[in-house]
Amino acid sequence: MSDGTALHELSAGETYQIDSDEYDSDDQGDNIGEKDYDELVAEAENGFTDEEVAVLTAELREKGLVNFLRDYLVPVSGPGQTLRKLLLGLGVIPPVHLRSSTTPDIQLLSFTKIVLSRLLRRRTKLPAYNSVDDAVSLLRHAKNIIVLSGAGISTSCGIPDFRSANGLYAQIQEDGEYDLSDPQEMFDIRYFREQPEVFYSFAKQIYPSNFVPSPCHRWIKLLEDRGKLLRNYTQNIDTLETLAGVQNVLQCHGSFATASCLRCRRRVPGTDIEGEIMRQEVPKCSVCRAEREAARAYEKSASAKGKPKVKGGMIWGDEEEEENEWGGGEPGIMKPDITFFGQALDSKFDECLFKDREKVDLLVIIGTSLKVAPVSEVCTHIPHSIPQIFINLTPVAHVQPDICLLGDADTIVTYLSDRLGWSIPPPPSASAKNQLTMTPPGEVEFASGVGPL
Ligand code: OAD
Ligand code: ZN
Repeated sequence: MSDGTALHELSAGETYQIDSDEYDSDDQGDNIGEKDYDELVAEAENGFTDEEVAVLTAELREKGLVNFLRDYLVPVSGPGQTLRKLLLGLGVIPPVHLRSSTTPDIQLLSFTKIVLSRLLRRRTKLPAYNSVDDAVSLLRHAKNIIVLSGAGISTSCGIPDFRSANGLYAQIQEDGEYDLSDPQEMFDIRYFREQPEVFYSFAKQIYPSNFVPSPCHRWIKLLEDRGKLLRNYTQNIDTLETLAGVQNVLQCHGSFATASCLRCRRRVPGTDIEGEIMRQEVPKCSVCRAEREAARAYEKSASAKGKPKVKGGMIWGDEEEEENEWGGGEPGIMKPDITFFGQALDSKFDECLFKDREKVDLLVIIGTSLKVAPVSEVCTHIPHSIPQIFINLTPVAHVQPDICLLGDADTIVTYLSDRLGWSIPPPPSASAKNQLTMTPPGEVEFASGVGPL
């Protein structure tokens, strides 16, 4: 599970979110003397046998981190079933400050979670599933499919993906129009806080408007209509799954359907800031603005009458203090509720994944480079025995799906449907378009709700 980890791109060699520095740094200068080492090896050998370790590892891959640890640590397992024993059995020596044989489990827990997460990321391809025929058969029999989708399912709608040679990041780089050292800064929360005008000079280009769902979006709807879709985890912010009529979709990276004030966190329908997006202006929070004006008005009348200044129930001081509080005298900046790098995903992502891993019987990954965590972790956080089909234009090296169908995703899902005798539903009527596009899939509290920031 993402454990609240912020959205981030995987670095080379990394396949999910755990930052290895988190514990590697503990080991700096941590040379183990030969005697200590021998003692630890002896302790490991007196612990679990190789067969027991293999069983525990298989259990971890099936149950997932949380369930595995819960079951491993239940008192029923008896005394001695400690995290230290587990770690040594796995061939992992705890860092020096956790190495004493008296270190309690509670102190070893975070370190153990990191170790187990690393183990989890190594999924082994299932030898039973390889061919297109296997894919057809899996789709025919599956009842609870997770579809994990990315920008590649919307390219045929005219929306560029991010990382292809003609993708958004390459375009931003080529344009050279924006003051960015890395095109990904366009979606970086720290950068946004400093220079929101850069994002708003660009946002218009990715604002969902007048796009028609692709065969892929409609294929996901087809799976749902046939009662086979457990959930669609989409990384896309274009809301085209919703427009295609898919009900059970989780927009993992949010969408333009709502926007929130960075200062007071008030959430509004995304259409409230549509005008500013189209005019390439930075939208400001009307409530913050009104509050500020009221405070100023009060201050004026108070100083005229010699009363103390009051804001939000607090007595406040000079102009400089006010400027800081209001972020340089500005009311709050509105930001569409799309998840930026450095922001945590909505907790719904972890909740859904935790629940869905118990039911899923097939994972279909479509149109994503799987470069961004924690969504990329879906592949390794569902039981490893669940078959995985990967449909994409380009291969990815860091995951081991069972069946790779490389090519244009629309063509591939259409072919699969033909083989199954299913027909992909037609695009929604134009009148459905606007109404649906900006309707958030879940219940969202407007105005007084707290956004995901
Ligand atoms: P990427 O651009 O990283 O990957 C899209 C993948 O789709 C690539 O591997 C392409 O080869 C493939 N692709 C493109 N067109 C295709 C087609 N017609 N048929 C099949 N495959 C095709 O996009 P994502 O993986 O979705 O986050 O990116 C993940 C996240 O990174 C995004 O949600 C976005 C980005 O930074 C935010 O902006 C918050
Ligand atoms: Zn506000």
